[in-house]
Amino acid sequence: MLSNQAGDGKRASLHGHWSSRMAFILAVTGSAVGLGNIWKFPYIAGQNGGGAFVLVYLICVVVIGMPVMMSEILIGRRGRRNPIATMELLGREEGSSPHWRLLGALGVLAGVLILSYYSVIAGWTLAYIVKSASGVFDGASAAAVGDEFGGFVGSWQLVLFCHSLFMALTVFVVARGVEGGLERAVRFMVPALLILMLMLLGYSINSGFFGQGLAFMFTPDWSKLTWLSVLAALGQAFFTLSIGMGAIMAYGAYLPEETSIPNASAAVVGADTAIAMLAGLAIFPLVFANGLDPADGPGLVFDTLPLAFGQMAGGVFFSTVFFLLLSFAAWTSAIGLMEPAVAWVVEHLNQSRAQASIFVGGSIWILGVGSVLSFNLLSDVTFLAGTIFDNIDYLTSNIMLPLAGLLITVFAGWVMCRNSTADELGGSGLVYKVWRLLARYVAPVGILLVLYNTVT
Ligand code: TRP
Repeated sequence: MLSNQAGDGKRASLHGHWSSRMAFILAVTGSAVGLGNIWKFPYIAGQNGGGAFVLVYLICVVVIGMPVMMSEILIGRRGRRNPIATMELLGREEGSSPHWRLLGALGVLAGVLILSYYSVIAGWTLAYIVKSASGVFDGASAAAVGDEFGGFVGSWQLVLFCHSLFMALTVFVVARGVEGGLERAVRFMVPALLILMLMLLGYSINSGFFGQGLAFMFTPDWSKLTWLSVLAALGQAFFTLSIGMGAIMAYGAYLPEETSIPNASAAVVGADTAIAMLAGLAIFPLVFANGLDPADGPGLVFDTLPLAFGQMAGGVFFSTVFFLLLSFAAWTSAIGLMEPAVAWVVEHLNQSRAQASIFVGGSIWILGVGSVLSFNLLSDVTFLAGTIFDNIDYLTSNIMLPLAGLLITVFAGWVMCRNSTADELGGSGLVYKVWRLLARYVAPVGILLVLYNTVT
């Protein structure tokens, strides 16, 4: 995947370059497409009343997500180092401060915190591969599917076991650094996931409740929109696109000079958004067809999709394949979430990659126990945003990622000189002008406004 030839006359990456534009897009798509699209988007949309939330989310993706993603990639390519070193170098080069490296540190911390609960939910998907294959959902009623989920997450032992298994799988890949195989996996996984989502969509179109699902998702009821829902939409845009963590910056470090950053960003954002919309369109009609509550919470996908598969011909097979693909998608994302912390430990604590992976993975595993227990033993222990899981999720998606995104746009839009950014974005044509307007004004002001209105 990475070749060692520098394909340009400028700064060459120490670690080689992506073999092709497609390889870069696949890697970034693999990190972006994950539980955020299929598990998180529908349940957050459901909790925030649907339509108005979805619209705000889409606006956030376009006017904030796109410019932040482009900024992260251009910063990464300009620095050609790990995010912390890149921010330090460019901070100096652009005549600002090396302390911009703290932005990289914020990303490392966010990745660790996100992965602590991400691994727990990914563990659920692992369990659902086995449950699907065993045929428990075959022809099952909504009540039976719901009981199955309730019984499963109610058992801290089972959930802890699955969380441990998923963390072990992630540590295994990160320790070995086998990204080449992952690229091939993504090449197959994203299209396969799309096909299964289209099948589910077909089912939900025939459910008789498609219109109701569609109306829920796209008819905005502005009275339901609070500043907190706007913040949730903003946070979801950051989470699902993997931005605000420096992860995309790290991928950008290997991007050949001739690849168009706006085009690559548009491709990734388009694919990611399409999968989230498909997930919503498949799930909400089922929610209404079965008298379920759209504000059901984190169990929403697990309460609805097995039900649909259970009614289909070949459902046992398709359900098994679906949860297998979803676990895969979660796996490729988890690797991206862990990588920054591992890279940091390798460089700063002078450990081998294997040691660093085990140390970081072990720490994340321990943190994850808080989220494991949030669904059973400690489900009644709530403070601030809710359970331990709710608080980690709120802190990372709604505070840390937007804050880092704000700093990234300020850096790319205000600190970096016009020549540097125009150079990376392919000249100062219309696309550049639009990016600059969004990165300098719209995105930072938008993020500040939402944070200000919710935190105060
Ligand atoms: N985007 C991923 C998802 O939707 C989650 C994620 C957030 C992520 N930040 C990341 C993945 C950074 C890799 C790197 O599931």
